[in-house]
Amino acid sequence: MVPVPGKGKQMTDREYHDLITHYEDAGRIMRTRLEILNQKLNRGPKEEQASCGPVHNIQWRIKAKESVEEKLKRMGLLDTSINAKDYLQDICGIRVICYFVKDIYDMADSLKRQADLVVMKEKDYIASPKPNGYRSYHIVVGVPIYCLDSMEYFPVETQFRTISMDFWASMEHRICYKKNITHKEEVREELLGYAETLKKIEERFETYNELHIEKAGS
Ligand code: GTP
Ligand code: MG
Repeated sequence: MVPVPGKGKQMTDREYHDLITHYEDAGRIMRTRLEILNQKLNRGPKEEQASCGPVHNIQWRIKAKESVEEKLKRMGLLDTSINAKDYLQDICGIRVICYFVKDIYDMADSLKRQADLVVMKEKDYIASPKPNGYRSYHIVVGVPIYCLDSMEYFPVETQFRTISMDFWASMEHRICYKKNITHKEEVREELLGYAETLKKIEERFETYNELHIEKAGS
């Protein structure tokens, strides 16, 4: 790609830090909203309220400078801060680990109803798992960040997973995601089988949970 005058310089450390402050702000706002939803969507009986929210845990990260540069290069772009802002939607990433699939859709639906957030991208790998067995619900939302006299949306990529989806994805990521491994086909097939087994286990737990809620409510 031909460098654009004044825009084609490789990102300096200073530019990277200036860039990510807005994404850090957007991530903080999103995490607060997710935590509020976790409280509001508490479905447990009164005496167990503290431990019955849909969220098991929330993780987040800001993409490191080297990863930003590497991804831009992989996309065939110059590794400038302008390109990072224009082309990357996962500089701020949040992972929400929920107990059950229903919790994921409840959380995501509530988030989508928040009028000031803009849904930029949605990928439902739970309804349509990837051929390798990967399951997760991804949503990129634009979060409004107000400066002194202006407002701009910054994207936050949120991945919703159950505990078992996260277990599988973390292991698969470690073992083979975007890696060249030996016996790739056999490993892929084995992991696909595990994904299916984990889905069945998860569904059993969900059934037991529904029974528990019904019993507590009766
Ligand atoms: P990236 O370039 O990797 O960001 O992918 P993308 O822009 O096509 O977006 P997608 O929503 O498909 O994936 C984004 C993120 O989801 C990845 O960075 C991973 O964290 C996760 N992910 C997607 N597919 C897989 C997979 O097959 N295995 C694992 N372990 N994680 C995945
Ligand atoms: Mg990514």
